[in-house]
Amino acid sequence: MIEHNISLKPYNTFGIDVKAKAFGRFKSVDELKDLLQNRLSKVGIETPLFVLGGGSNILLTQDLPFFVLKNEISGIEIINETETSVVLKVGSGVEWHSFVRYTVEKGWGGVENLSLIPGSVGASPMQNIGAYGAELKDTFVSLEALHIDSAEIHTFNKEQCQFGYRESVFKRALKNQYVIVSVSYKLSKNPKINTTYGAIQSEIEKLGVNEITVEAVSQAVMNIRRSKLPDPKVLGNAGSFFKNPVVSKSVFEQILKNYPDVPHYPQEQGEEKLAAGWLIEKAGWKGKRIGNCGVHEKQALVLVNYGGASGQEIYDLSALIIADIESKFGVSLEREVNIF
Ligand code: EPU
Repeated sequence: MIEHNISLKPYNTFGIDVKAKAFGRFKSVDELKDLLQNRLSKVGIETPLFVLGGGSNILLTQDLPFFVLKNEISGIEIINETETSVVLKVGSGVEWHSFVRYTVEKGWGGVENLSLIPGSVGASPMQNIGAYGAELKDTFVSLEALHIDSAEIHTFNKEQCQFGYRESVFKRALKNQYVIVSVSYKLSKNPKINTTYGAIQSEIEKLGVNEITVEAVSQAVMNIRRSKLPDPKVLGNAGSFFKNPVVSKSVFEQILKNYPDVPHYPQEQGEEKLAAGWLIEKAGWKGKRIGNCGVHEKQALVLVNYGGASGQEIYDLSALIIADIESKFGVSLEREVNIF
């Protein structure tokens, strides 16, 4: 069924109340194909498509003159299993965290560090989600996507997805050409626990467990995230609003002179990745509120909607922060959230 002028407030974690020109849900590839076929007669081919997963990484600044397709493809299926590993094919509409919990409860390793990331399975390769020392690409095998123009299903392997830091080919060269319908991941039955990210190690110690299992790591990550990141059901937000910037050696050395304790992560060719949250906090923005929105008090990388904020208000706040960080540190922050 295709509906018109539907409020998107329940479908974006910032809780922004804008309307979509047209809206339809799909639970299978066939339902998706039906929606695309009916697009001609019921919506008009000139109306661009907008595929919505969990709505957890978008900021809507205006009514969307788009045909919004809400992905509800479910299902987790074992497609290959050996003594040491299992490959799961997962419907792209499955909530990411439910998939993570499914694997953790089986004791399979690979995605436990990515517990509690909001959003859907289909969005996970889109921006190569990452947290606490792990990235989607570490377990990714392949994905299936519907090519919108031809209505054919195409398979992409890891190389073809061109993963980068919060990047993939689907955000660049192939933008708006495909709808991801399933993603396959390889999990390990003899998990290698990754607690290199400092906070995980100390959080596991607090749990007081005898053995460090994938469940313990998942629990530790959930505890850390719950302590720092606001729950979108309580306070509208889209996780990290900005990317962590990579800067040249000379910009880094300038900052180091004034702030010898600046957190930094060495990159190739002498460049350094900085923590955007740290820069924003040092510039005095942490916990600051302007109108109905603000900078989260426990994690400066997260912008929050205190209720009733418009997307434009939040966007304007982000522009103020970007300009201030540029003038104070000579660093250009990029938005990680997709703006519409
Ligand atoms: N920091 C501050 N002040 C803050 C926030 C952070 O000084 O308000 C400092 C921390 O003390 C630490 C450094 O900045 O030294 C890094 O902070 P943290 O470990 O919290 O991670 P992050 O760089 O702020 C990134 C991801 C998160 C992910 C965490 C954990 C990006 C843009 N963000 O945040 O991802 O959960 O690491 O791995 O890469 C997301 O993408 O939505 C997201 C939440």
